[in-house]
Amino acid sequence: MGAHRISRRGFLTAAGGAAVGAVAGAGAVALADEGGEPAAPSAAAVAFHGEHQAGIVTPAQDRLMFAAFDLVDGVSQREVRELLAAWTTAAERMTRGAPVGPDLPAVAPPADTGEALGLPPSRLTVTFGFGPGFFAQPGLRTRRPARLRELPPLPGDELDPQRSGGDLCVQACADDPQVTFHAVRNLARIGRGVVVLRWSQLGFGRTSSTTRAQDTPRNLMGFKDGTNNITAEEPEALTRFVWAGPDEPAWMRGGTYLVARRIRILVEVWDRASLDDQEATIGRRRDSGAPLTGSRERDAVDLEAQGADGPLIPAGAHVRVAAPETHRGLRILRRGYSFTDGFDAELGQLDAGLFFVSFQRDPESFVRLQTRLGREDALNEYIKHVGSAVFAVPGGVAPGRPLADGVLG
Ligand code: HEM
Repeated sequence: MGAHRISRRGFLTAAGGAAVGAVAGAGAVALADEGGEPAAPSAAAVAFHGEHQAGIVTPAQDRLMFAAFDLVDGVSQREVRELLAAWTTAAERMTRGAPVGPDLPAVAPPADTGEALGLPPSRLTVTFGFGPGFFAQPGLRTRRPARLRELPPLPGDELDPQRSGGDLCVQACADDPQVTFHAVRNLARIGRGVVVLRWSQLGFGRTSSTTRAQDTPRNLMGFKDGTNNITAEEPEALTRFVWAGPDEPAWMRGGTYLVARRIRILVEVWDRASLDDQEATIGRRRDSGAPLTGSRERDAVDLEAQGADGPLIPAGAHVRVAAPETHRGLRILRRGYSFTDGFDAELGQLDAGLFFVSFQRDPESFVRLQTRLGREDALNEYIKHVGSAVFAVPGGVAPGRPLADGVLG
C-alpha cells in the first residue's frame, strides 16, 4: 500500500474539500507535522474504497467499537437507501480524518460532533453488515442472501438477547478509541429515526494478526492469539474461506459474512489453574506460543505426536478441536478484541473476555467449528458465550457509489 505524506495543516485544510479524496483513494495517507517529520504509523489513513470493505484483512488496529442497530418499525425503502448513502459518505470522510460534514450556520447543531477534530485518521476502518432482520422488512424478503440466517442454538450458549442480533452492524477499528467512538456516534446520529442502537461493544486490544507483518498479540488468558489465523498474504485461502462465492448477489461480490460472539472469560477461575493445565487447555506454550509439539511459535501443530501419556496435544485442547484437520480443512479469519465492561456485581467478578469476530464465506463454517468446540473444547471450563450475531458484509465500495449498491434493487 503506498503511503503519502502531507502536512497536518495542509491535511486539515484539504480535508474540507475533495482534494484529499484523491490522495486517500490511492492508499494510506501518513501525516507529517510541519517540520516534515514522518508521522507514527497510527496516523495513517486506510483507503475506504476498494474491492473489499476495509477492516477485514486490513492489519488489525488496536481498538474496536462495534455497534448493532435495528431498523425502526415502518421505515420505508427510500429512508433506508438514504441512510446507506449518508453512511457511505460519512464513513469515507471519517476514514481519511475529515469531519462528517461541512460547517453549518452556528444556529444549527454542528454537522460533526467534534471530538475527533485535529486527531489523525488513526487507521480508522468502518465495516458495515446486514443482519437477517434487515431482510425481514417488507419488500426485502426476496433479497436476503441464502447463506444469511440466524445462527442455530449452539452447545453451551448462554446468550443474552440484549447483547445479540441486530439488523445492521458497524465495526469501527482504529488505533485511537476516541476515533472509533466518534465514528460510531456520528453514524448513529445520522441514522436517527431510521435505526436505533441495539447493543455496542468496546474492544481494547486486538487478539489476532491479519498479516505476517504483525506480531501475534496476547489475549486476556495471557496466550498468543492469532498465530494460525488466515492472513492477507494468503490470497488463495482468502478466496476459498473468506470472500463470498460467485453465486452470491452482485452487491455481495467481494463481501463475506461476519460472526460476532461476546465471550466472557472467567478470569478468576483461569488464574487459579496451573500453568500446565493452562497450556494443556490451549495446546500451546504460554511464553513462546509454540504448540506442545514444537519449540517455536510458527512450528506446525502436530496432532498425531504421542507422549508417554497419550497425544502431546490433548484430546480437548482448543487448538486440536479448532484445527483445520479436525474439520476437513476448514479455516476462518479471526479478528477479535479483548474487552472489559467493569464488574459483575452479582458474582463479584470481572466482566472481561474476548469479543470474537470472524469472517467466513459462509456462516455455516463458524457453526461447524463452534458446534464441536461447544462440546469438546477444554476452554469451556473458563469461558461463556454470552452474545452472538451474524451479518452479511457487502463487497467493497466504489468511488461515488453507495455501500451495498443494488441491495434495495
Ligand atoms: C475466549 C475464547 C477463545 C480464546 C481465549 C481462544 C484462544 C485461542 C488461542 C490462544 C489459539 C492459539 C493461537 C492461534 O493459532 O491463534 C486459538 C486458535 C484458534 N481458535 Fe480460538 N479462542 C477462543 C475462541 C474461539 C472460537 C469461538 C473459535 C471458533 C468458533 C476459535 C477458533 C480458533 C481457530 C480456528 C484457531 C486456530 C487453530 C489452528 O489452526 O491451529 N477460537 N484460539
